[in-house]
Amino acid sequence: MTVEEIREHIDPIRHEYADGKSLILPALKFAQTEKGHLTREDLQAVAEATGYSAAYIEGVASFYDRIYLKPNGTRVVSVCVTLSCMLRGSDELFEHLCDREGVSHHGGTSEDGAITIQEAQCLGYCDRAPCVQVDAEETQGPMSLEDGERLLDELRTNPRPDRLWR
Ligand code: FES
Repeated sequence: MTVEEIREHIDPIRHEYADGKSLILPALKFAQTEKGHLTREDLQAVAEATGYSAAYIEGVASFYDRIYLKPNGTRVVSVCVTLSCMLRGSDELFEHLCDREGVSHHGGTSEDGAITIQEAQCLGYCDRAPCVQVDAEETQGPMSLEDGERLLDELRTNPRPDRLWR
C-alpha cells in the first residue's frame, strides 16, 4: 500500500483522534486490508503517512495479535481460549481444528494456504462459548467439534472478500 493511499484514509478521520499517535492503529489496519498482512514496505508507508519512525511503527504493529507481519491463510479462524470458552471445551475445539488442518497445536496455516487457525483472547461472546471468529469479523458460537468441521469446509469453498478488516 502506498503512502498516498494511507494518507487518503487517515486524513478524513484525523479530527476523531486525540493525537497523531492514535492514528497509527487505523493506518496499520487499513494498510493490512490490501494483502491481509503487512510487509516492510507497508510499515514504511505507515511511518511516512503518520510521521513516526518505521521502528516505532513496527513496535506498535508487533504488539497487536490481529496485525499480521507475515502472510496468513486465505481465511483466518480465531478460537477463543479465555476462561468461559476454555471451561466449555475451547482447548479441545482448537486442537481438533488444528488437527483437521494439519497444523501444530500452537496454530498455523494449512499446507494449501487456505486456512489459518489461531488462538484468541475473549471475543466478547462468553455467553455463546466456545466461540470462534472468522477473519476478525464474524463471531460464531457455541461451536461443537462438528460445527467447527463444517465451518472449515464452508470457508474452503468461500473466497475471501477483496478487502478485510482483520
Ligand atoms: S471467554 Fe470466550 S468469548 Fe469471552
